[in-house]
Amino acid sequence: MIGVFDSGLGGLSVLAAIAHELPRADLVYLADAAHVPYGDKPDGFITGRVLAIGEYLAGRGCELIVVACNTATTTAIQALRAHLPQVPIVGVEPGVKPAAHGSLSRKIAVLATEATAKSRRLAELIEAHARGVEVRIVPCPGWATHVETLAPDTAAFRAEVAAKILPLLAAGIDRLVLGCTHYAFLLPLIEPLIEGRAQAIDVAAAVARQVLRLKSDAQGTGRLDLLATARPERLAAALPALGLQRLAARVSSVEQADV
Ligand code: DGL
Repeated sequence: MIGVFDSGLGGLSVLAAIAHELPRADLVYLADAAHVPYGDKPDGFITGRVLAIGEYLAGRGCELIVVACNTATTTAIQALRAHLPQVPIVGVEPGVKPAAHGSLSRKIAVLATEATAKSRRLAELIEAHARGVEVRIVPCPGWATHVETLAPDTAAFRAEVAAKILPLLAAGIDRLVLGCTHYAFLLPLIEPLIEGRAQAIDVAAAVARQVLRLKSDAQGTGRLDLLATARPERLAAALPALGLQRLAARVSSVEQADV
């Protein structure tokens, strides 16, 4: 069984990629809906949630855990690996490397939560993979919460997205890193703005390939158990609402997780 978790719905973009790569694997998805968003919380709080959820998923028999959240990964993956040394842990980090390598203008931008934007890990990624590339780090407070409403396409939010992205294009960026898993669900708003000028970089497919490399033997019935720390029925309803019908068809159970 493979466990995947996020603060809320964002990690479903990663789960969909994993389900595509591993159609027979048994999957568990946990949304920490009682504590979403993570991005404006202190590091200590995020680390506490990551350790508790990791332990809970390992206790349910998960043999591999995917931290489907950039904020949780950049803040707490080292602590989680130290806490659960027997379980392989795969994280999601902003795709600075593919963006920097692919950029012709040598200018890229990273959209992220406040916690990821100020994280030491993001600075390390830039140092390691984007030397000589101009990198704009753009915190997007409220965006993940807006995705959680399941109705992000409002005139006011469209204007907010445009106000963040158009100046980046004017500055010449040609790669736009989606540094939060929730932002994959904003692509219908982002793509029309950047089309022909910049490419959005989302690492979900690469993360899924890494999971496949580690669990190529994952055999099961292809079931998907949904867990949420609040309103699990809302998580189940989010799948079709976010266009994830294939995932919805795999759902075997929907439960409240007291973690
Ligand atoms: N989806 C998460 C991320 O990738 C966290 C968003 C949030 O809870 O603030 O960063």
